[in-house]
Amino acid sequence: MADIKIGLIGAGTVGSGVVKIMAKQTTFFREQLGLPVSLARVADKDLEKLKTLPVGDAILSNDAADVINDPEINVVIELIGGYTFAKEVVLNALKKGKHVITVHFEAAVGGGMPSIKTIREAMIGNDVLSVYTIINGTCNYILTEMTEKGAAFDPTLKEAQRLGFAEANPALDIEGGDTGHKTAIIASLIYDGYCDYDKVPVRGITEITADDIISAKDLGYTIKLLGVIKRKEGEESVDVRVNPVMVHNDHILASVNGVFNAVLLEGDAVGPILLYGAGAGEMPTASAVVSDIIDVARNIKSGDTNRIPMHFYSLENELKIKGIEEIESRFYLRFLVDDKPGVLADIAEEFGDRNISIASVMHKEAHDGNDHVPVIITTDMAIEKDLRDAVAAIEAKAFTHGKTQIIHIED
Ligand code: HSE
Repeated sequence: MADIKIGLIGAGTVGSGVVKIMAKQTTFFREQLGLPVSLARVADKDLEKLKTLPVGDAILSNDAADVINDPEINVVIELIGGYTFAKEVVLNALKKGKHVITVHFEAAVGGGMPSIKTIREAMIGNDVLSVYTIINGTCNYILTEMTEKGAAFDPTLKEAQRLGFAEANPALDIEGGDTGHKTAIIASLIYDGYCDYDKVPVRGITEITADDIISAKDLGYTIKLLGVIKRKEGEESVDVRVNPVMVHNDHILASVNGVFNAVLLEGDAVGPILLYGAGAGEMPTASAVVSDIIDVARNIKSGDTNRIPMHFYSLENELKIKGIEEIESRFYLRFLVDDKPGVLADIAEEFGDRNISIASVMHKEAHDGNDHVPVIITTDMAIEKDLRDAVAAIEAKAFTHGKTQIIHIED
């Protein structure tokens, strides 16, 4: 069998990890697996940095075109990042008939955790009933620190940036976009349809306060940013969303802390599966990229590039995503109200009128001459639209101040 020559474009953090793993494992891949792979070219604009990697200088280049135009290269790995030059590289490589890793994308969801392979291969005999993900290390780190130290969001973010756990521009992480992208990919895979990210309700962690963290603790919950995917039997629409959730302390996801990621899948045959691991970083992410290299090499060896088809590219089968009029959940609410007779009764009436059952009420005493007090309510299962209507009616009353906090609850 002819050599399978790999060209890597972009040798930043992840790309460097790929070079290191290939340097260590290529003999095993060739001799034990019978896959004649070799890293044939590596391109990055920083040639000096390339020279520090465990690979011969002869294959290094500072020009991506040297990889794409090399007729001997069968597989291109794009690890440039961003949307513009990376897209150009991918399209040019595809036009030249090359396999592209990025189009194979294990590393895109959960870094080192094999979430895509687990869904597409290991769980193929299951209907996947639900997926709950903690899939953004930045958010999980910030929420863990706030929980452990009782700190507010802003200083915790600043400290995370200082320590290198959060990006200088953290918007994509803390506003939930990154979790949303990954959740949309998983939903597409599970339901063999196209999950349009723009239709996924996404809320990040920027509005979570130290008070919410304390209330969650008092109630026996931990706040996590979750990507949620679930569909009830017989229903056409899917509950796909990203939002902060109060997870009961007994829930397995409550103990996923720091920068770690987790994907909790439930299959009808296998039951629950928990993937837990590093969702980012040089070697974990490179581990996922190398698993794609081996997939592609196996495809080439078997002569079948469509061994495990990607149905979800079809725009024809678009998933119908539930809106708030269909989403059902338990909820945590924190109102700020005047401390005077009749307030609680008025609040309770708005819930009762909408058939929403209150599960618990915490009403803290006023201190330091402050007449505004927090009232914390948890509900039983309710339709989110009804819940938001009740909150809007309560916020319209003169005794309510500021914006009400609303957080989903998972037991
Ligand atoms: N920024 C992501 C995180 C990793 O914080 O987990 C890359 O997707």
